[in-house]
Amino acid sequence: LGNGLALTPPMGWNDWNAYGCNVSESLVKQTADKIVSSGLAAAGYQYVNIDDCWMQHSRDASGNLQPDYGKFPSGISGTAAYVHSKGLKIGIYEDAGTQTCAGYPGSLGHEAQDARLFASWGIDYLKYDNCYNNGSSTTEQYIARYSAMRDALAATGRPIVYSICEWGVNAPWTWAPNVGNLWRTTGDIQANFNSVLNIFRQNVGLAAYAGPGAWNDPDMLEVGNGMSATEDRAHFSLWAEMAAPLLAGNNLVTASATTLSILGNRDVIAVDQDSLGKQGRMVSSSGGLDVLAKPLSNGDVSVVLFNETGSTATISTTAAAIGKSGATSYGLKDLWSGSTSTTSGTISASVPGHGVVMYRVSGGTTGDPGGGDSTTVLR
Ligand code: GLA
Repeated sequence: LGNGLALTPPMGWNDWNAYGCNVSESLVKQTADKIVSSGLAAAGYQYVNIDDCWMQHSRDASGNLQPDYGKFPSGISGTAAYVHSKGLKIGIYEDAGTQTCAGYPGSLGHEAQDARLFASWGIDYLKYDNCYNNGSSTTEQYIARYSAMRDALAATGRPIVYSICEWGVNAPWTWAPNVGNLWRTTGDIQANFNSVLNIFRQNVGLAAYAGPGAWNDPDMLEVGNGMSATEDRAHFSLWAEMAAPLLAGNNLVTASATTLSILGNRDVIAVDQDSLGKQGRMVSSSGGLDVLAKPLSNGDVSVVLFNETGSTATISTTAAAIGKSGATSYGLKDLWSGSTSTTSGTISASVPGHGVVMYRVSGGTTGDPGGGDSTTVLR
Protein backbone atom coordinates (compact mmCIF):
# COMPACT_ATOMS: atom_id res chain seq x y z
CA LEU A 1 0.00 0.00 0.00
CA GLY A 2 1.47 3.31 -1.03
CA ASN A 3 0.90 5.05 2.31
CA GLY A 4 4.63 5.50 2.88
CA LEU A 5 4.64 2.97 5.74
CA ALA A 6 6.29 -0.44 6.23
CA LEU A 7 8.97 0.21 3.62
CA THR A 8 10.69 -2.72 5.33
CA PRO A 9 8.72 -5.55 6.99
CA PRO A 10 7.18 -4.49 10.33
CA MET A 11 9.01 -5.62 13.48
CA GLY A 12 7.66 -5.86 16.99
CA TRP A 13 5.60 -8.12 19.23
CA ASN A 14 2.01 -9.34 19.46
CA ASP A 15 0.40 -11.03 22.47
CA TRP A 16 -1.77 -13.61 20.68
CA ASN A 17 0.55 -16.60 20.20
CA ALA A 18 1.59 -16.74 23.86
CA TYR A 19 -1.44 -15.32 25.66
CA GLY A 20 -4.56 -15.70 23.50
CA CYS A 21 -7.32 -13.66 25.11
CA ASN A 22 -5.29 -12.97 28.28
CA VAL A 23 -4.12 -9.58 27.11
CA SER A 24 -3.83 -6.66 29.51
CA GLU A 25 -2.36 -3.24 30.04
CA SER A 26 0.19 -4.63 32.51
CA LEU A 27 1.34 -7.24 29.99
CA VAL A 28 1.69 -4.62 27.27
CA LYS A 29 3.61 -2.26 29.55
CA GLN A 30 5.94 -4.97 30.92
CA THR A 31 6.59 -6.17 27.39
CA ALA A 32 7.35 -2.65 26.18
CA ASP A 33 9.80 -2.26 29.06
CA LYS A 34 11.49 -5.55 28.16
CA ILE A 35 11.70 -4.70 24.45
CA VAL A 36 13.74 -1.66 25.42
CA SER A 37 15.83 -3.17 28.27
CA SER A 38 16.69 -6.34 26.30
CA GLY A 39 18.06 -4.38 23.36
CA LEU A 40 15.34 -5.63 21.00
CA ALA A 41 14.13 -2.07 20.41
CA ALA A 42 17.62 -1.03 19.37
CA ALA A 43 17.70 -4.08 17.07
CA GLY A 44 14.56 -2.84 15.29
CA TYR A 45 11.55 -4.17 17.23
CA GLN A 46 9.15 -1.25 17.27
CA TYR A 47 5.45 -2.22 17.32
CA VAL A 48 3.81 -3.49 20.50
CA ASN A 49 0.61 -5.01 19.19
CA ILE A 50 -2.57 -5.83 21.08
CA ASP A 51 -4.54 -8.69 19.51
CA ASP A 52 -8.17 -9.80 20.03
CA CYS A 53 -10.11 -9.53 23.34
CA TRP A 54 -9.12 -5.99 24.34
CA MET A 55 -12.66 -4.59 24.25
CA GLN A 56 -16.11 -4.87 25.81
CA HIS A 57 -18.86 -6.92 24.15
CA SER A 58 -20.91 -3.88 23.18
CA ARG A 59 -20.39 -0.44 21.76
CA ASP A 60 -21.34 2.61 23.83
CA ALA A 61 -24.41 4.79 23.27
CA SER A 62 -22.53 6.73 20.59
CA GLY A 63 -21.52 3.55 18.82
CA ASN A 64 -17.92 3.69 19.92
CA LEU A 65 -15.89 0.60 20.78
CA GLN A 66 -15.10 0.41 24.49
CA PRO A 67 -11.91 -0.96 26.03
CA ASP A 68 -12.30 -3.64 28.69
CA TYR A 69 -11.27 -1.46 31.62
CA GLY A 70 -10.74 -4.53 33.80
CA LYS A 71 -7.90 -5.49 31.47
CA PHE A 72 -6.86 -1.94 30.52
CA PRO A 73 -7.46 0.37 33.50
CA SER A 74 -5.98 3.35 31.60
CA GLY A 75 -7.84 2.41 28.44
CA ILE A 76 -6.08 1.96 25.15
CA SER A 77 -5.15 5.64 25.04
CA GLY A 78 -3.35 5.44 28.40
CA THR A 79 -1.62 2.24 27.35
CA ALA A 80 -0.62 3.84 24.05
CA ALA A 81 0.81 6.86 25.84
CA TYR A 82 3.00 4.56 27.95
CA VAL A 83 4.23 2.61 24.92
CA HIS A 84 4.97 5.86 23.12
CA SER A 85 6.88 7.15 26.15
CA LYS A 86 9.25 4.20 25.70
CA GLY A 87 9.95 5.27 22.12
CA LEU A 88 7.84 2.43 20.71
CA LYS A 89 4.65 2.27 18.65
CA ILE A 90 1.38 0.53 19.45
CA GLY A 91 -0.91 -1.68 17.42
CA ILE A 92 -4.45 -2.90 17.85
CA TYR A 93 -6.77 -5.55 16.40
CA GLU A 94 -10.20 -5.39 14.81
CA ASP A 95 -12.22 -7.36 12.30
CA ALA A 96 -13.69 -6.71 8.85
CA GLY A 97 -16.88 -8.57 9.78
CA THR A 98 -19.63 -8.15 12.37
CA GLN A 99 -17.55 -9.70 15.17
CA THR A 100 -13.92 -10.42 15.92
CA CYS A 101 -12.85 -14.05 15.94
CA ALA A 102 -13.32 -14.12 19.73
CA GLY A 103 -16.79 -12.60 19.45
CA TYR A 104 -16.28 -8.90 20.18
CA PRO A 105 -17.88 -6.17 18.02
CA GLY A 106 -16.49 -6.02 14.48
CA SER A 107 -15.95 -2.92 12.36
CA LEU A 108 -18.17 -3.79 9.37
CA GLY A 109 -20.28 -0.68 8.77
CA HIS A 110 -18.36 1.25 11.47
CA GLU A 111 -15.07 1.63 9.61
CA ALA A 112 -14.81 5.44 9.68
CA GLN A 113 -15.89 5.74 13.33
CA ASP A 114 -13.53 3.01 14.50
CA ALA A 115 -10.58 4.35 12.50
CA ARG A 116 -11.13 7.81 14.02
CA LEU A 117 -11.25 6.30 17.50
CA PHE A 118 -8.02 4.35 16.92
CA ALA A 119 -6.29 7.49 15.61
CA SER A 120 -7.52 9.49 18.61
CA TRP A 121 -5.98 6.87 20.91
CA GLY A 122 -2.63 7.13 19.14
CA ILE A 123 -2.75 3.77 17.37
CA ASP A 124 0.08 3.17 14.87
CA TYR A 125 -0.80 -0.29 13.48
CA LEU A 126 -4.08 -2.11 12.81
CA LYS A 127 -4.40 -5.87 12.33
CA TYR A 128 -7.75 -6.39 10.61
CA ASP A 129 -9.18 -9.92 10.80
CA ASN A 130 -11.75 -11.80 8.72
CA CYS A 131 -14.18 -13.59 11.07
CA TYR A 132 -18.00 -13.17 10.88
CA ASN A 133 -17.74 -11.61 7.45
CA ASN A 134 -21.43 -11.93 6.60
CA GLY A 135 -20.76 -14.69 4.15
CA SER A 136 -18.79 -12.46 1.81
CA SER A 137 -17.13 -14.82 -0.54
CA THR A 138 -16.30 -13.10 -3.80
CA THR A 139 -12.99 -11.40 -4.37
CA GLU A 140 -14.88 -8.15 -4.92
CA GLN A 141 -16.51 -8.40 -1.49
CA TYR A 142 -13.17 -9.07 0.17
CA ILE A 143 -11.58 -6.13 -1.58
CA ALA A 144 -14.52 -3.87 -0.65
CA ARG A 145 -14.45 -4.76 3.05
CA TYR A 146 -10.71 -4.37 3.36
CA SER A 147 -10.61 -1.24 1.19
CA ALA A 148 -13.25 0.43 3.37
CA MET A 149 -10.91 0.31 6.36
CA ARG A 150 -7.90 1.33 4.24
CA ASP A 151 -9.80 4.46 3.21
CA ALA A 152 -11.04 5.09 6.76
CA LEU A 153 -7.50 4.90 8.12
CA ALA A 154 -6.23 7.24 5.41
CA ALA A 155 -8.99 9.73 6.22
CA THR A 156 -7.76 10.02 9.82
CA GLY A 157 -4.49 11.54 8.61
CA ARG A 158 -2.55 9.45 11.13
CA PRO A 159 0.12 7.07 9.79
CA ILE A 160 -1.25 3.60 10.63
CA VAL A 161 0.29 0.42 9.26
CA TYR A 162 -2.53 -1.71 7.85
CA SER A 163 -2.24 -5.48 8.33
CA ILE A 164 -4.77 -7.58 6.42
CA CYS A 165 -5.54 -10.84 8.21
CA GLU A 166 -7.69 -12.95 5.89
CA TRP A 167 -5.53 -16.08 6.14
CA GLY A 168 -4.82 -16.26 2.41
CA VAL A 169 -8.33 -17.53 1.65
CA ASN A 170 -9.00 -15.25 -1.29
CA ALA A 171 -5.50 -14.98 -2.77
CA PRO A 172 -4.83 -11.61 -1.11
CA TRP A 173 -1.41 -11.38 -2.79
CA THR A 174 -3.30 -10.67 -6.03
CA TRP A 175 -5.19 -7.62 -4.69
CA ALA A 176 -3.93 -6.66 -1.24
CA PRO A 177 -0.69 -4.93 -2.40
CA ASN A 178 -2.88 -1.91 -3.12
CA VAL A 179 -5.03 -2.31 -0.01
CA GLY A 180 -2.73 -3.13 2.91
CA ASN A 181 0.91 -3.03 3.99
CA LEU A 182 0.91 -6.78 4.62
CA TRP A 183 -1.47 -9.65 4.17
CA ARG A 184 -1.63 -13.05 5.81
CA THR A 185 -0.96 -15.82 3.31
CA THR A 186 -1.93 -18.80 5.49
CA GLY A 187 -3.97 -20.03 8.42
CA ASP A 188 -2.78 -19.57 11.98
CA ILE A 189 0.71 -20.66 12.92
CA GLN A 190 1.35 -23.03 15.83
CA ALA A 191 4.47 -23.60 17.91
CA ASN A 192 5.60 -26.80 16.25
CA PHE A 193 7.94 -27.59 13.37
CA ASN A 194 5.25 -29.06 11.09
CA SER A 195 3.20 -25.87 11.30
CA VAL A 196 6.23 -23.71 10.55
CA LEU A 197 7.16 -26.01 7.64
CA ASN A 198 3.65 -25.98 6.14
CA ILE A 199 3.41 -22.21 6.37
CA PHE A 200 6.89 -21.80 4.86
CA ARG A 201 5.87 -23.98 1.90
CA GLN A 202 2.71 -21.93 1.29
CA ASN A 203 4.49 -18.58 1.53
CA VAL A 204 7.79 -19.20 -0.23
CA GLY A 205 6.40 -19.18 -3.77
CA LEU A 206 4.80 -15.74 -3.41
CA ALA A 207 8.00 -13.71 -3.72
CA ALA A 208 6.81 -11.90 -6.84
CA TYR A 209 4.12 -10.04 -4.89
CA ALA A 210 6.28 -8.63 -2.07
CA GLY A 211 8.12 -5.33 -1.99
CA PRO A 212 8.51 -2.15 0.04
CA GLY A 213 5.18 -1.23 1.66
CA ALA A 214 3.54 -4.54 0.72
CA TRP A 215 4.57 -7.84 2.30
CA ASN A 216 3.45 -11.43 2.41
CA ASP A 217 2.66 -12.28 6.05
CA PRO A 218 3.22 -15.94 7.00
CA ASP A 219 2.01 -15.09 10.53
CA MET A 220 3.72 -14.11 13.77
CA LEU A 221 6.77 -15.77 15.23
CA GLU A 222 6.69 -18.80 17.53
CA VAL A 223 10.33 -18.39 18.61
CA GLY A 224 10.55 -19.13 22.32
CA ASN A 225 7.19 -20.92 22.46
CA GLY A 226 8.44 -24.48 22.77
CA MET A 227 10.33 -25.55 19.66
CA SER A 228 14.00 -26.51 19.97
CA ALA A 229 16.63 -23.79 19.56
CA THR A 230 17.60 -25.38 16.23
CA GLU A 231 13.97 -25.14 15.05
CA ASP A 232 13.60 -21.61 16.40
CA ARG A 233 16.72 -20.51 14.50
CA ALA A 234 15.38 -22.13 11.32
CA HIS A 235 11.97 -20.46 11.73
CA PHE A 236 13.54 -17.04 12.33
CA SER A 237 15.98 -17.45 9.41
CA LEU A 238 13.25 -18.52 6.99
CA TRP A 239 10.99 -15.62 7.98
CA ALA A 240 13.87 -13.17 7.50
CA GLU A 241 14.80 -14.73 4.16
CA MET A 242 11.13 -14.37 3.06
CA ALA A 243 11.06 -10.68 4.10
CA ALA A 244 8.26 -11.52 6.52
CA PRO A 245 7.12 -9.28 9.36
CA LEU A 246 9.15 -10.14 12.48
CA LEU A 247 6.54 -10.00 15.23
CA ALA A 248 7.72 -11.89 18.29
CA GLY A 249 4.87 -13.98 19.68
CA ASN A 250 6.38 -15.19 22.94
CA ASN A 251 6.54 -14.10 26.55
CA LEU A 252 9.39 -11.61 26.32
CA VAL A 253 9.41 -10.77 30.01
CA THR A 254 10.64 -14.23 31.02
CA ALA A 255 12.30 -15.18 27.71
CA SER A 256 15.53 -17.17 27.96
CA ALA A 257 18.87 -15.75 26.89
CA THR A 258 18.83 -18.17 23.96
CA THR A 259 15.43 -16.93 22.78
CA LEU A 260 16.46 -13.29 23.10
CA SER A 261 19.67 -13.96 21.20
CA ILE A 262 17.73 -15.60 18.34
CA LEU A 263 15.23 -12.74 18.11
CA GLY A 264 18.09 -10.27 18.47
CA ASN A 265 20.44 -11.62 15.77
CA ARG A 266 21.23 -8.39 13.94
CA ASP A 267 22.80 -10.08 10.91
CA VAL A 268 19.61 -12.06 10.30
CA ILE A 269 17.43 -9.03 11.04
CA ALA A 270 19.44 -7.07 8.46
CA VAL A 271 18.49 -9.64 5.82
CA ASP A 272 14.80 -9.23 6.67
CA GLN A 273 15.03 -5.46 6.79
CA ASP A 274 17.15 -5.00 3.65
CA SER A 275 16.00 -1.91 1.78
CA LEU A 276 15.78 -3.68 -1.58
CA GLY A 277 12.71 -5.43 -0.18
CA LYS A 278 13.03 -8.64 -2.18
CA GLN A 279 11.53 -11.80 -0.74
CA GLY A 280 13.95 -14.72 -1.00
CA ARG A 281 13.19 -17.49 -3.49
CA MET A 282 13.70 -21.22 -3.50
CA VAL A 283 16.70 -21.90 -5.72
CA SER A 284 16.57 -25.68 -5.34
CA SER A 285 14.62 -28.20 -3.30
CA SER A 286 15.20 -31.91 -3.32
CA GLY A 287 14.45 -34.60 -0.76
CA GLY A 288 13.60 -32.02 1.89
CA LEU A 289 16.89 -30.16 1.42
CA ASP A 290 16.21 -26.57 0.36
CA VAL A 291 18.34 -23.67 -0.84
CA LEU A 292 16.92 -20.14 -0.71
CA ALA A 293 18.51 -16.96 -2.04
CA LYS A 294 17.63 -13.32 -1.34
CA PRO A 295 19.42 -10.48 -3.17
CA LEU A 296 20.40 -7.60 -0.89
CA SER A 297 20.79 -3.90 -1.55
CA ASN A 298 24.61 -3.83 -1.37
CA GLY A 299 24.96 -6.65 -3.91
CA ASP A 300 25.36 -9.42 -1.34
CA VAL A 301 23.06 -12.43 -1.42
CA SER A 302 21.61 -14.08 1.67
CA VAL A 303 21.49 -17.87 1.40
CA VAL A 304 19.56 -20.23 3.66
CA LEU A 305 20.35 -23.95 3.55
CA PHE A 306 17.26 -25.51 5.19
CA ASN A 307 17.02 -29.15 6.22
CA GLU A 308 13.34 -30.11 6.42
CA THR A 309 14.21 -33.67 7.41
CA GLY A 310 14.80 -35.06 10.87
CA SER A 311 18.46 -35.99 10.42
CA THR A 312 21.67 -34.13 9.67
CA ALA A 313 22.45 -33.74 5.97
CA THR A 314 24.86 -31.90 3.71
CA ILE A 315 23.20 -29.19 1.61
CA SER A 316 25.11 -27.71 -1.32
CA THR A 317 24.65 -25.01 -3.91
CA THR A 318 26.89 -22.76 -5.98
CA ALA A 319 27.60 -19.08 -6.33
CA ALA A 320 26.13 -19.27 -9.84
CA ALA A 321 22.90 -20.85 -8.60
CA ILE A 322 22.30 -18.01 -6.15
CA GLY A 323 22.92 -15.39 -8.85
CA LYS A 324 26.59 -14.61 -8.19
CA SER A 325 29.22 -14.47 -10.94
CA GLY A 326 32.37 -12.75 -12.06
CA ALA A 327 34.75 -13.45 -9.16
CA THR A 328 37.32 -16.14 -8.45
CA SER A 329 36.55 -15.98 -4.75
CA TYR A 330 33.42 -15.10 -2.77
CA GLY A 331 33.10 -14.23 0.88
CA LEU A 332 30.82 -16.22 3.18
CA LYS A 333 29.65 -15.05 6.57
CA ASP A 334 27.79 -17.61 8.66
CA LEU A 335 25.04 -15.49 10.24
CA TRP A 336 24.54 -17.78 13.25
CA SER A 337 28.14 -18.66 14.16
CA GLY A 338 29.62 -15.38 12.93
CA SER A 339 32.50 -17.19 11.25
CA THR A 340 33.77 -16.07 7.85
CA SER A 341 35.36 -17.99 4.99
CA THR A 342 35.84 -17.83 1.24
CA THR A 343 34.83 -20.08 -1.62
CA SER A 344 35.64 -20.29 -5.31
CA GLY A 345 32.03 -21.32 -6.00
CA THR A 346 30.71 -24.18 -3.91
CA ILE A 347 28.49 -23.24 -0.96
CA SER A 348 27.93 -26.26 1.23
CA ALA A 349 27.34 -27.14 4.86
CA SER A 350 26.30 -29.91 7.16
CA VAL A 351 22.87 -28.88 8.44
CA PRO A 352 21.13 -30.46 11.45
CA GLY A 353 17.63 -31.90 11.03
CA HIS A 354 14.97 -29.15 11.16
CA GLY A 355 17.82 -26.63 11.08
CA VAL A 356 19.45 -24.09 8.81
CA VAL A 357 22.82 -22.71 7.95
CA MET A 358 22.54 -19.12 6.79
CA TYR A 359 25.22 -17.25 4.86
CA ARG A 360 25.68 -13.75 3.61
CA VAL A 361 27.62 -14.10 0.33
CA SER A 362 29.69 -11.22 -1.00
CA GLY A 363 31.86 -10.54 -4.05
CA GLY A 364 31.44 -10.63 -7.80
CA THR A 365 28.28 -9.32 -9.41
CA THR A 366 24.71 -10.30 -8.69
CA GLY A 367 21.98 -11.24 -11.13
CA ASP A 368 18.62 -12.83 -10.50
CA PRO A 369 18.91 -16.10 -8.65
CA GLY A 370 17.41 -19.07 -10.43
CA GLY A 371 14.30 -20.85 -9.27
CA GLY A 372 11.50 -18.74 -7.96
CA ASP A 373 7.94 -19.15 -9.09
CA SER A 374 5.83 -18.98 -12.18
CA THR A 375 3.49 -16.19 -11.14
CA THR A 376 3.20 -12.92 -12.97
CA VAL A 377 4.47 -9.82 -11.23
CA LEU A 378 1.43 -7.62 -10.77
CA ARG A 379 3.16 -4.75 -9.03
C1 GLA B 1 -7.49 -15.21 14.01
C2 GLA B 1 -6.12 -14.66 13.60
C3 GLA B 1 -5.16 -14.81 14.75
C4 GLA B 1 -5.70 -14.07 15.97
C5 GLA B 1 -7.08 -14.57 16.32
C6 GLA B 1 -7.74 -13.72 17.39
O1 GLA B 1 -7.43 -16.59 14.24
O2 GLA B 1 -5.66 -15.33 12.46
O3 GLA B 1 -3.89 -14.31 14.39
O4 GLA B 1 -5.73 -12.68 15.68
O5 GLA B 1 -7.96 -14.54 15.18
O6 GLA B 1 -9.04 -14.15 17.71
